[in-house]
Amino acid sequence: SIGNALHVLQLAQTVFGALHALQTFSQLCHFEFTSRLIGLNSAPWMISDAPRFPYRGLLIDTSRHYLPLATIKGVIDAMTYSKLNVLHWHIVDEQSFPIEIPSYPKLWNGSYSYSERYTMPDAIDIVRYAEKRGVNVLAEIDVPGHARSWGVGYPELWPSDSCREPLDVSNNFTFKVIDGILSDFSKVFKFKFVHLGGDEVNTSCWTETPHIKEWLNNNHMNVSDAYRYFVLRAQKIAISHGYEVINWEETFNNFGDKLDRKTVVHNWLGGDVAPKVVAAGLRCIVSNQDKWYLDHLDATWEGFYLNEPLKGINNTEQQRLVIGGEVCMWGEQIDASDIEQTIWPRAAAAAERLWSPLEQIAEDTRSATSRLSRFRCLLNQRGVAAAPLAGNGRTAPYEPGPCVRQ
Ligand SMILES: *[C@@H]1O[C@H](CO)[C@@H](O)[C@H](O)[C@H]1NC(C)=O
Ligand SMILES: *[C@@H]1O[C@H](CO)[C@@H](O)[C@H](O)[C@H]1NC(C)=O
Ligand SMILES: *[C@@H]1O[C@H](CO)[C@@H](O)[C@H](O)[C@H]1NC(C)=O
Ligand SMILES: *[C@@H]1O[C@H](CO)[C@@H](O)[C@H](O)[C@H]1NC(C)=O
Ligand SMILES: *[C@@H]1O[C@H](CO)[C@@H](O)[C@H](O)[C@H]1NC(C)=O
Repeated sequence: SIGNALHVLQLAQTVFGALHALQTFSQLCHFEFTSRLIGLNSAPWMISDAPRFPYRGLLIDTSRHYLPLATIKGVIDAMTYSKLNVLHWHIVDEQSFPIEIPSYPKLWNGSYSYSERYTMPDAIDIVRYAEKRGVNVLAEIDVPGHARSWGVGYPELWPSDSCREPLDVSNNFTFKVIDGILSDFSKVFKFKFVHLGGDEVNTSCWTETPHIKEWLNNNHMNVSDAYRYFVLRAQKIAISHGYEVINWEETFNNFGDKLDRKTVVHNWLGGDVAPKVVAAGLRCIVSNQDKWYLDHLDATWEGFYLNEPLKGINNTEQQRLVIGGEVCMWGEQIDASDIEQTIWPRAAAAAERLWSPLEQIAEDTRSATSRLSRFRCLLNQRGVAAAPLAGNGRTAPYEPGPCVRQ
């Protein structure tokens, strides 16, 4: 078996390829109870493969509920077992601001408590831990909506004390703070992308607040112009720090032709935006909420498995612009107590589709069922609390029986 491992290493073009190959190798091995040795069925194996998509993501949300470092590391470990390679860290949202920003040290006054915070060294620890395992960390600040917690430390970021989001578009301080955050991020989060959100912007506080209304009038802008102005100015700041930008799809839906040409549009609303994004020549990540949202607790693993990111895109040039897909573990209804069984095994069903050649993916779930149930048991053996397959969505074991039948 050492010979096999060496062969694996010889063929890989990068250290991450070797890591993925050894991961596969470890999953082929099992303990033989008669010989008391580690066995490899049907050897020799010749496996030659490569991922279909370069971006295979999983989102975690540490604003709705804080996730301890050990929990995040556990998520990263399990990602490597299914060869997911991007941890999309939705760090901050309206409910809490858990991370330290040295440039603006009062931002994490918006955390839930002192024990629900990440220091910069914590963030570095996560990034290094992930990197050693072939996982990139994509940091997100979601602006200008989803940012109410920013104003706990700096109330001038709110339109007013009674109308607290989106961030005040009329105040240059808002953009100074974004610049400070992205400057601090660029020292820690070395992945080439940063995520700037841009979804679900309710602009009514902008028109209801006198000083912002006046600013809009003086600048001859209505609220849609101001939303675009905000997103584009934030993009420029991120680019000045060396990042390429990912934005949620509303930005494309509202002013796609104005976005920086290197923008990656992150789908979530429905199934039909990806073809439009790639036809416009921009890149896309697919996360349609009807299939790939893990917080939909009753969404089935079959739905995760059958969701095809290239649906509706026949042109091969355009297909290449779909850099991948991502399953999303939004945090409203989960925390450290149940995140593992909510993510797994459903995320692994999507991971197989993101890795395997399309020709090898069946159009139904019959052949995947036994593979996924064995993989689920492997996760359990490795200490991951992956839930049973049987039933709708995230479930508990149904009756006594062997692991693979649950
Ligand atoms: C922020 O927290 C610091 C202590 O951590 C405190 O001194 C300061 O008053 C707080 N500021 C606001 C605006 O809450
Ligand atoms: C705010 O920043 C913009 C863009 O840099 C600049 O044109 C404008 O004069 C600034 N406004 C104030 C009040 O400083
Ligand atoms: C937008 O925000 C205003 C004020 O905060 C609120 O009254 C309104 O219901 C919101 N609209 C939507 C569509 O959520
Ligand atoms: C806002 O103004 C732009 C022109 O600057 C116009 O095209 C657009 O329809 C307006 N939007 C709304 C919601 O009034
Ligand atoms: C793409 O191909 C499929 C099957 O080959 C076909 O049903 C569909 O109409 C095509 N779509 C477009 C947009 O050409």
